[in-house]
Amino acid sequence: MAQGLHLIWMIFCVHLTCISSQQEEPNFIFNGFHQADLYTDGLAKILPKGQLQLTDGSGQRMGHAFIKKPLVFTSPESLSFSTHFVCALVPGANGGHGIAFVLSASMDLTQADATQYLGIFNISTQGSNSSHIVAVELDTALSSEFDDINNNHVGIDVNSLISVASTPASYFSEIEGINKDIKLLSGDPIQVWVDYGGSLLNVSLAPLKIKKPSQPLLSQSINISEIFPGRKIFLGFSGATGTLVSYQYILGWSFSRRKVSLQSLDVTKLPKVPSHGAKKKRPSTLLIVLLILLAIIGLLALGGAYVYRRRMYAEVREEWEKEYGPHRFSYKALYNATKGFHKDGLLGKGGFGNVYKGKALSSSNGEIAVKRVSHDAEEGMKQFVAEIVSMGNLKHKNMVPLLGYCRRKGELLLVSEYMPNGSLDRYLFHQDKPPFSWRRRLVIIKDIASALNYMHTGAPQVVLHRDIKASNVMLDAEFNGRLGDFGMARFHDHGADPATTSAVGTIGYMAPELSTMGASTETDVYGFGAFLLEVTCGRRPVEPGLEGERRFLVQWVCQCWRMASLLGARDARLRGEFSAEEVEMVLKLGLICTNAVAEMRPSMEEVVQYLNESLKLPDISPNSTGIGSFSLLGSNPFPASPITKNLSASFYTSSSANDTTFVTHSIVHGHGR
Ligand SMILES: *[C@@H]1O[C@H](CO)[C@@H](O)[C@H](O)[C@H]1NC(C)=O
Ligand SMILES: *[C@@H]1O[C@H](CO)[C@@H](O)[C@H](O)[C@H]1NC(C)=O
Ligand SMILES: *[C@@H]1O[C@H](CO)[C@@H](O)[C@H](O)[C@H]1NC(C)=O
Ligand SMILES: *[C@@H]1O[C@H](CO)[C@@H](O)[C@H](O)[C@H]1NC(C)=O
Ligand SMILES: *[C@@H]1O[C@H](CO)[C@@H](O)[C@H](O)[C@H]1NC(C)=O
Ligand SMILES: *[C@@H]1O[C@H](CO)[C@@H](O)[C@H](O)[C@H]1NC(C)=O
Ligand SMILES: *[C@@H]1O[C@H](CO)[C@@H](O)[C@H](O)[C@H]1NC(C)=O
Ligand SMILES: *[C@@H]1O[C@H](CO)[C@@H](O)[C@H](O)[C@H]1NC(C)=O
Ligand SMILES: *[C@@H]1O[C@H](CO)[C@@H](O)[C@H](O)[C@H]1NC(C)=O
Ligand SMILES: *[C@@H]1O[C@H](CO)[C@@H](O)[C@H](O)[C@H]1NC(C)=O
Repeated sequence: MAQGLHLIWMIFCVHLTCISSQQEEPNFIFNGFHQADLYTDGLAKILPKGQLQLTDGSGQRMGHAFIKKPLVFTSPESLSFSTHFVCALVPGANGGHGIAFVLSASMDLTQADATQYLGIFNISTQGSNSSHIVAVELDTALSSEFDDINNNHVGIDVNSLISVASTPASYFSEIEGINKDIKLLSGDPIQVWVDYGGSLLNVSLAPLKIKKPSQPLLSQSINISEIFPGRKIFLGFSGATGTLVSYQYILGWSFSRRKVSLQSLDVTKLPKVPSHGAKKKRPSTLLIVLLILLAIIGLLALGGAYVYRRRMYAEVREEWEKEYGPHRFSYKALYNATKGFHKDGLLGKGGFGNVYKGKALSSSNGEIAVKRVSHDAEEGMKQFVAEIVSMGNLKHKNMVPLLGYCRRKGELLLVSEYMPNGSLDRYLFHQDKPPFSWRRRLVIIKDIASALNYMHTGAPQVVLHRDIKASNVMLDAEFNGRLGDFGMARFHDHGADPATTSAVGTIGYMAPELSTMGASTETDVYGFGAFLLEVTCGRRPVEPGLEGERRFLVQWVCQCWRMASLLGARDARLRGEFSAEEVEMVLKLGLICTNAVAEMRPSMEEVVQYLNESLKLPDISPNSTGIGSFSLLGSNPFPASPITKNLSASFYTSSSANDTTFVTHSIVHGHGR
């Protein structure tokens, strides 16, 4: 009787564990994919013999396959898994780009790109933390863009194709006691194990019929739960081809949430790698066929190499660009000048894109700086390029000369002269440079005023800068101030919904009316005023870390003035070496230029005269209308749009956005621009 009860109890327990392990899904084993319920897209499909095909030997394509049921985890600690799969990469014409085992927050990777992006990223999701992707790549092409080590490696990718860890494909042979290379693109089946637990991701490789090596090939510490805040992970594979193609297959796959319960794949039951070899011919014709094949392969290789070069340097060129001939640079020339956009030449990363230093393109120019801006908007491009080129025609000794541009798919490259001493903000805010003297600061202020005055009045047509700030002021070899990055802000304006007005610029330098009335010479003067205060006080217009009036520079300077100690607002690092009259004059001018009422601001022409003291400053007091009032895009006759609110909200909570150019759109109610 007691034994009977025991038996019932045991059956009950077994039943319970069954249920709980079902909830813990997905645990599965596929010796061939006949029974598998997979989501597939692109070239991916299950072949009649049970192989999962990712790509089929056609070029520039990709394929994805995912288990439909996601892996769900309740706490970061509970996330662990082990998987074992067998894949085979059969070379087509010339190779292929490789495959990846993918953990993704979404099954939809159809917007990703083939070729070096491996079907998991595109130019805009690459490197973005919002991609939510972890991948183990078996990469069979060398792409220097992503710092690949060779054309036969295994890597761990976290939201980026620049692997956090990578190593040439190999395994440790226990019998011979040495590391042996594995050729990924051999067509032979390869076993891969991926284990995750306790913040360590391990990857091992071995040829078929060799057991799992005791030490992993790659062991990388990462916190995967951090990358999936939604606590839901889709598991699958991605394969991609480029001009180099291959046939990529998965033959079997086993997965478990716990390492101990991972079922081994039965290598004898796995489907065979489909054959792509030439059929056997009669000996008499064999030689001829071989010769023809050889010739075709030779031609294909030549063609492949040609197409590959074409793709590598591919550009977008349209009819209307012909007139800009001299301003249009070839991508190849820029690629060469920057040594393939090598990271050693990286000058900076801005809100708009990375800037690289490059060799001189011709003997008449000096070294260059190339800015790579990724963009999606094709419309508006014509007007934007026209503006860029017309700005390139502006000549002023205090402007950074813009030499030209180049266009590629999803990318624009702007070429300007290289400024050896970097941007002004480094001397104002960074400890690695000695602070500038007052004399030097005043010279730079006058330089910039003169450049801006030229843009507003001296040029053939009025040109707005839209984003004046210390980080856009460059210093040439003699430490003259040079206004750079003009018109860039305008770029982000394009592609916006025409029913909205865009306010583009950097918080703290944006005039209050900008979000409703759009940019004007007055908004540039406002930005210049903020710049004056920034340079004189040695701090940014908005410091989220400070309390009360000190947070907003305009209010703070005005407050100092009210307390009859205007000079107290100056940069303490100036010590005693400055002229009190000049500092006071510049601070007052800064307040006049940042007047909340646009009509009360002076023109740049007047500003230049105030600065060279050929005109006396108007008589103002800290109590005058509009002086010293500051709001984040505020004093707006219309209620702030939700985006504006979010922008300010995020500004208060994060200090990482100090100097980033923003775009905000707010709906204009029945207003023209
Ligand atoms: C990149 O992919 C995202 C979605 O994953 C898509 O929204 C975006 O338009 C794509 N960008 C390009 C340049 O293809
Ligand atoms: C992305 O995430 C990594 C790791 O969590 C972090 O170091 C990095 O700063 C993040 N990058 C951005 C642009 O948020
Ligand atoms: C990963 O490898 C290390 C070193 O061999 C080992 O200590 C660890 O237990 C492994 N982790 C998993 C999840 O297999
Ligand atoms: C991993 O990240 C999660 C969520 O961000 C966190 O709760 C957890 O403590 C982290 N684990 C480790 C080991 O750092
Ligand atoms: C790059 O430029 C150098 C000279 O500046 C030249 O010798 C070399 O051939 C160029 N390379 C290519 C690929 O054009
Ligand atoms: C400024 O540029 C000049 C010319 O390249 C250089 O000689 C000088 O050392 C630079 N000064 C600083 C402080 O970097
Ligand atoms: C001041 O600047 C204005 C405008 O550029 C110029 O006309 C004037 O001659 C300058 N005056 C002095 C004293 O330099
Ligand atoms: C500004 O107004 C305050 C009170 O409203 C007054 O005490 C102060 O004297 C005024 N300052 C100037 C310079 O007019
Ligand atoms: C503003 O932020 C809130 C919460 O942070 C979010 O729910 C909302 O969607 C955001 N609004 C816009 C327009 O981005
Ligand atoms: C932003 O400013 C704060 C306070 O001045 C500073 O601590 C922080 O490092 C800055 N962040 C960046 C990204 O410059």
